[in-house]
Amino acid sequence: VRPPAALAAITRDSDRVGFTMASAPETGSLLRTLAASKPSGRFLELGTGTGVATAWLLDGMDADACLDTVDNDPNASAIAQRYLGDDSRVSFHVGDGAAFLAGQKESHFDFIFADAWPGKFTELAKTLSLLKRGGLYVIDDLLPQPNWPEGHAPKVPSLVAQLEAQTGFESTSLEWASGLMLLVKR
Ligand SMILES: C[S@@+](CC[C@H](N)C(=O)[O-])C[C@H]1O[C@@H](n2cnc3c(N)ncnc32)[C@H](O)[C@@H]1O
Repeated sequence: VRPPAALAAITRDSDRVGFTMASAPETGSLLRTLAASKPSGRFLELGTGTGVATAWLLDGMDADACLDTVDNDPNASAIAQRYLGDDSRVSFHVGDGAAFLAGQKESHFDFIFADAWPGKFTELAKTLSLLKRGGLYVIDDLLPQPNWPEGHAPKVPSLVAQLEAQTGFESTSLEWASGLMLLVKR
């Protein structure tokens, strides 16, 4: 798979600072493919990390699309901003994801990659309300991973059950990369 241009440098800096939570290339490739289905789309990433998935998303987005990406770790976000900050389609927000979500209007986004605690394990209803009709909600890390913090494993089945029970959405779980789930708002 042809990687985004900035990926090698971002991966190098992520390794240097010991950032181990970056998305796998298989996840990135899927995100890029799905991103291409939303021309002029409004994108949201919760959990910028060092910008790995940000780079894949930007690679799939067209010139008129835009992406807000949020992380509360300024050091991780600084790496993403170093390599992706020149792209005028992306806005970096450093702060709490829950606070960011609270300030957003319903039906605003075409695509949400929820890769932090808020938007996934908390603020789920608020996050899903931000999607437009036809909008995509994507999460990963649903299959057991070596870097899961203690206490994380028991939360995953109830999250999946909650998402499967959402009315007004179609959902599919994928045994791909770290384990993904996709929802589309009807
Ligand atoms: C799984 S990593 C993100 C990886 C990134 N999306 C990628 O694909 O490489 C989760 C990120 O969420 C951030 N995070 C954790 N709690 C947060 C919060 N309450 N608000 C915003 N970001 C948070 C962490 O700093 C971390 O960078």
